Amino acid sequence: MKRFWFVVVIVAGVALFAAAGAAEPSSPPLGLPAVPIPADNPQKAEKIALGDKLFHDKRFSSTGEVSCATCHAAEKGFTDSPLSVSEGINKLTGTRNAPTVVNSAYFTKLFWDGRSPTLEDQALHPFVNPVEMGLKDHHPILEIVRTDPEYVKKFNAVFGKSGDAITMTEVTQAIAAFERTQIAGNSPFDRWYFAGEKDALTEAQKRGFELFVNEGRCVSCHLIEQTQALFTDNRFHNVGVGINDIQADVPELAGEFLKAEATLSEVDVKVLTDKRTSELGRFAVSRGFDDLGAFKTPTLRNIDVTAPYMHDGGLATLREVMDHYNNGGVTNAEDPVNDFLSGGIRPLNLSDEQIDDLIAFMEALTSPEFAHLAQAAGTE
Ligand code: HEC
Ligand code: HEC
Repeated sequence: MKRFWFVVVIVAGVALFAAAGAAEPSSPPLGLPAVPIPADNPQKAEKIALGDKLFHDKRFSSTGEVSCATCHAAEKGFTDSPLSVSEGINKLTGTRNAPTVVNSAYFTKLFWDGRSPTLEDQALHPFVNPVEMGLKDHHPILEIVRTDPEYVKKFNAVFGKSGDAITMTEVTQAIAAFERTQIAGNSPFDRWYFAGEKDALTEAQKRGFELFVNEGRCVSCHLIEQTQALFTDNRFHNVGVGINDIQADVPELAGEFLKAEATLSEVDVKVLTDKRTSELGRFAVSRGFDDLGAFKTPTLRNIDVTAPYMHDGGLATLREVMDHYNNGGVTNAEDPVNDFLSGGIRPLNLSDEQIDDLIAFMEALTSPEFAHLAQAAGTE
């Protein structure tokens, strides 16, 4: 009898252990909700490993020198910091700053203008963008994954497919599955706010939080909710970055754009190769005049390690960002605000000390896996 209970306890223990192990990938870190996983692309360890390999494969570019990881490097918080705009094949530069892939699993629209609906769709575009990976079409990628012995083995194991049955659907599903594992929360802010650890934040950071929520009105777009904080509303706003430079040309640029009736793939190329069109922002996707110069609210998690800032990488430090907001949506206080500025952006009249506190608060949003980068950057 004794032995029977012994066995029962061991079996129950193993079952519990296995259940905990299986649950782990879907139990999110402190401060974040469960990762949304599309029904047609379930997470599997082997698929994630395949996606990791694809994400790092430079052969999927016309020069053999650029992979997704070139611009989204793990050791730089999955960005290409400190570049202001990304460098693709032959050092060609685009028009926009590379956002982090970390926590992109939570965004309901991808890219600064939200032109892509899913991580699977998003992954199609960089391969064939002339200033990113520079391929004419996706065939060279399929050629490699259908014939390279390692890929042949892995695609067969993950999808049960080989030869022509492997398409960009499987390639992008694996990449997206990998991206959905790049989740980071559990910052000092999370430990303070969601776990009640009183000493996780400094006094300056706590004052910064108050300003973030109240006088600064930051939280109206960079959301903090009851049990989670994505620091984005997944919406688009004109906060006065970039559009000032093309203000006089907006009617002409917008008119040209509407006439061209570009498809979304054409939009992808146009906005990343033409600086002036890039500044139209969400308008290029929605064609709505309300969206002129509007960009997606970016998350502020790990913001301290992903400088420079904004869709054009035009603001070098968090202090420059704060000056921009404090001026009411202009980088130089003397400049007039643009005609399409969001109603939520007005001069804040914060003191230098208050700005210090807000910056200190944003420095508390760094997850432990990236904390060493904050120190290396000297924080600011
Ligand atoms: C040459 C640099 C470069 C390469 C290579 C590159 N990206 Fe990006 N990535 C960017 C830039 C720049 C943006 C923003 C473009 C925009 O918003 O118009 C971006 C945006 C993204 C986003 C959207 C994030 C968000 O917050 O909306 C994801 C996800 C992403 N890239 C994943 C990938 C994947 C997967 C690959 C490889 C297939 C890849 N990138 C290759 C520079 C690059
Ligand atoms: C009306 C909505 C809104 C409000 C209010 C707002 N933001 Fe933003 N924030 C945005 C948008 C949209 C962007 C991206 C703008 C762009 O690139 O053109 C952004 C960008 C940023 C960035 C750069 C992020 C990156 O990855 O480059 C930081 C930092 C930031 N905001 C902090 C703040 C702080 C601090 C406050 C309060 C003082 C604040 N924001 C108020 C919408 C808002």
